Amino acid sequence: MSAAATATTTAQPPVGVSNLPNQRYKIANERGGSFTLMVCGESGLGKTTFINTLFQTTLKHQDAQQRRYTPIKKTVDIDIIRAILEEKNFSLRVNVIDTPGFGDNVNNNKAWQPLIDFIDDQHDSYMRQEQQPYRKVKFDLRVHAVLYFIKPTGHGLKPLDIETMKRLSTRANLIPVIAKSDTLTAQELQVFKSRIRQVIEAQEIRIFTPPLETGSVKDDESPDSPAMEHARQLIESMPFAVVGSENKYDNGQGTPVVARQYPWGLVEIENDSHCDFRKLRGLLLRTYLLDLILTTEELHYETYRRLRLEGGNSEDPNLPVKAPARKLSHNPKYKEEENALKKYFTDQVKAEEQRFRQWEQNIVNERIRLNGDLEDIQSKVKKLEEQVRNLQLKKR
Ligand code: GTP
Repeated sequence: MSAAATATTTAQPPVGVSNLPNQRYKIANERGGSFTLMVCGESGLGKTTFINTLFQTTLKHQDAQQRRYTPIKKTVDIDIIRAILEEKNFSLRVNVIDTPGFGDNVNNNKAWQPLIDFIDDQHDSYMRQEQQPYRKVKFDLRVHAVLYFIKPTGHGLKPLDIETMKRLSTRANLIPVIAKSDTLTAQELQVFKSRIRQVIEAQEIRIFTPPLETGSVKDDESPDSPAMEHARQLIESMPFAVVGSENKYDNGQGTPVVARQYPWGLVEIENDSHCDFRKLRGLLLRTYLLDLILTTEELHYETYRRLRLEGGNSEDPNLPVKAPARKLSHNPKYKEEENALKKYFTDQVKAEEQRFRQWEQNIVNERIRLNGDLEDIQSKVKKLEEQVRNLQLKKR
């Protein structure tokens, strides 16, 4: 495990942490304004690039020595990058946990274990510090959000993705993202998103979604308030399609924008019609920063602590948290899609059953025909045998 030097970054243009609503801003400031984000997923999906894009600076430098031999530096250890994000009078201590890509091995059994161990270790370390007589200053690296990078295959989630997400979601606020979404067309992306959402719901993976229920952190909001509408829009965009880049290009109007350049044009990172980067950054560092911190404290850490004190077995994939998964399908549009899909599957099953029955009937008919043929042949054989016997008699 290595720790990079602390960087202070004054984001240009601002990331938005200073725009936390006043009351939340105050709580975040009192609690020390510290936020820990973990990125994980298969190798080469743009996790390191995303971190640098998110904080609008090169938080993680490429190793010049290594770069001479390999053009892209692989993350081989769990890296802890520390930064202080300063905006106006607000400063946020950010810890980013960059994890090595997994899934490259022939046997990827338990590829998620180092991630789970890291999250558990942080809870454990915090718990021990709390048990000390002097516990004012605590070293806290509890993970507030885990960004899980999904390969943009356009097909669906792999069993390894499902298993890893299931396990991570029981310990931390899991936010799945579609990596390198610029490699998919808009249509492919929509289909891919919809498939991933269906798997997440079917497998009951507990991903972090902005709270919509009353009685949540935001119970001061009415169901029709702009904040609730914003929350609903964020839920509809999940899993967020992200694009990362560390380069700026002229957008044709003389303004440099962070983008990826293609022969046919630019994919602008901050453009909502190109990707969901801005939505995700807003969720992480502005609107739901405090929700992420509070759910980590009140749900994930508390559950871990309780289980440890009760002597629970943390090997169980469903532990520590067994809270019900929030539904992604609040939107009637997704309900309709789900119903249409159910109908499609039922029709397919019926058609297959019909085809199978027809095939069974054909086999029965064929057997009857063959039995008839067999009887014919047997009677012909009998006749021939009789003729042979008669001939032999005559001959004698
Ligand atoms: P590991 O450290 O091996 O786990 O890789 P990583 O997931 O950190 O990927 P990294 O950020 O090193 O990026 C790998 C390659 O993908 C680099 O060449 C990046 O320029 C490229 N890349 C990063 N983000 C994107 C993206 O959004 N779209 C496209 N098309 N390429 C990207």
